[in-house]
Amino acid sequence: MLRRLLGLVWRYRLACLRVLLLQLLLVTLNLSGLRLTGLGIDVVRHQFEPGSAPARWPWGWQPPASWSAMQCVLAIAGGILVLALVHASLRYATTLAHTSLSQRVLLQLRTDVYEKLQRLSFRFFDAAESSSLINRAAGDVQAVRVFVDGVALKIVTVLISLGVYLGYMLSMHVPLTLACLATTPLLWTGAVLFSRWVQPEYRRSRELLDDLILVLVENLQGVHVVKGFARQQEQLARFEAANREVREQKRRIFWRVSSYQPLMGGLTQVNMLVLLAYGGYLVVQGQLALGAGLFVFANLLQEFASQVGHITSIASTVQNSLAGAGRVLEVLDAPVEITSPPGAQRLPRARGSVRFDHVTFAYASGPRVLDEVTFHAQPGECLGIVGETGAGKSTLLGLLARFYDVESGAVLVDGHDVRTLDLDDLRRNIGLVFQESFLFSNTVAANIAFGYPQAPLERIVEAARIAAADAFIGQLPKGYDTLIGEYGNNLSGGQRQRIAIARALLLDPPILLLDDATAAVDAQTEHDIQLALRQAMQGRTTLIVSNRLSTLQRTDRLMVLEKGRIVQQGSHAELVRVPGPYRRLAELQFTDLQSPEEAALPAS
Ligand SMILES: Nc1ncnc2c1ncn2[C@@H]1O[C@H](COP(=O)(O)OP(=O)(O)O)[C@@H](O)[C@H]1O
Ligand SMILES: [Mg+2]
Repeated sequence: MLRRLLGLVWRYRLACLRVLLLQLLLVTLNLSGLRLTGLGIDVVRHQFEPGSAPARWPWGWQPPASWSAMQCVLAIAGGILVLALVHASLRYATTLAHTSLSQRVLLQLRTDVYEKLQRLSFRFFDAAESSSLINRAAGDVQAVRVFVDGVALKIVTVLISLGVYLGYMLSMHVPLTLACLATTPLLWTGAVLFSRWVQPEYRRSRELLDDLILVLVENLQGVHVVKGFARQQEQLARFEAANREVREQKRRIFWRVSSYQPLMGGLTQVNMLVLLAYGGYLVVQGQLALGAGLFVFANLLQEFASQVGHITSIASTVQNSLAGAGRVLEVLDAPVEITSPPGAQRLPRARGSVRFDHVTFAYASGPRVLDEVTFHAQPGECLGIVGETGAGKSTLLGLLARFYDVESGAVLVDGHDVRTLDLDDLRRNIGLVFQESFLFSNTVAANIAFGYPQAPLERIVEAARIAAADAFIGQLPKGYDTLIGEYGNNLSGGQRQRIAIARALLLDPPILLLDDATAAVDAQTEHDIQLALRQAMQGRTTLIVSNRLSTLQRTDRLMVLEKGRIVQQGSHAELVRVPGPYRRLAELQFTDLQSPEEAALPAS
């Protein structure tokens, strides 16, 4: 995984390089500033204590002999001021470069994750929870950004600083440097151990956050159920429990982090002790300048300690970001099972012949859902599919749109195995209406035109008219420009369904799949839709899943599905005549309608 992440950093190598160069400049400027201050101290010291060694000016430069000590100090102060100004503007540039880099990474990753989620197969979504996916696209990508700028860049920055400081310290006094930094290996081991210690906690923390979001999302989506069953208190308790878990987990992490940092901080203070004892001795012995030597050294040691402190924070960040990045990469690296094969067969407009050839199918690690299903629908034919809940009707339609691939056998459209067809072509040839239709929070017109955004309004209105939606849309406050709420929740079920039918019809697909599309609709509306659909079905191959006789009667042919097997085939007229599941269903609905109890019910 680290390799993958570094590969990501590599994609931004130029921007990274810019940031690093700027950092290098900053460190050098920092050091020069310190060096100048130290020089000032030496000049002043020499003034008061003529016996001490004269100040050593850098770069072999000497002030003119005529300069007084005051002039020298002023010149040094001026130099420091200039350096500070340059430093400030460079810092500004660095921050800009840094932020723009991390925002670029973030944007790119989000786009990648979103794009990948669009392409992933249904199998992936079956296994994943949407709250976890939301968290990955929104939160965990942050972790990858943190890896790029909080880990990769920072490590290099720290190494650059440490390198520069170390080089300077060594150039001044080797034994003193070594003595002061004797504790450093301890710091490194500490950082590594600590990093291993906190890693599992970070991963766990993200999973708990997923749970929290799951509770939240479910409660928002199921708000009717929650309120209707008066379960707010229990749900609140559930949310609080999830919230508490997250907090407890964070506490565990913070406990570990905060017990580690003072420990490491204490270790670095030991260095200062060594410096004062050994370095002070050297100054007294005249082997080390007070300003350019001890003063700069002390400051560099502080810098060193704070850089090592960075390492500890990096060690903790690295685990946090790796945990998040792992989850992002899981999405990015998930295999896309259902794709157009290379050199896919194009199919701009199908004639509409549909054939299932000994199709057997099971969802991942589940029992068989379809078993040796074989049938053929001619172009323009209308085929009804009947069966109990769970018989596999929806699955059968899904296989035709290639939401999943068959286990054995083949699904053919116009004689081509759907697995050889261009996937977009295949799906553009198929209009789908599900039992429950998802509408986007957008205008009515935009929802109908979802598959064909450039559609002229006349086409949209025409599709709505066929779907028997035109009339009620006309009565909405802004007609076709009315905004539909999230999940379409300011429309009735029947209205949503008719918009979904219009959406499918707008594409004028040669194959139309209606999955119990009118189940949730009242009888009158269903009748309207039926009439409209009869017109819409002209010249299209239609597969209708339904259990309503009124719908089934109008199909050309019927298939009865039972536990994934076709147990009866024939027209309505044929099937009602022979004993069997279809006749039982027909009798059930027939007697229902005829029952005296029902006729006697008061009209409500
Ligand atoms: N995404 C899925 N993952 C696992 N099993 C599923 C999935 N969708 C449906 N099933 C199972 O497959 C069987 C057939 O489902 P389905 O085709 O929806 O039946 P129908 O539409 O006839 O009611 C059921 O037992 C159902 O539990
Ligand atoms: Mg179904």
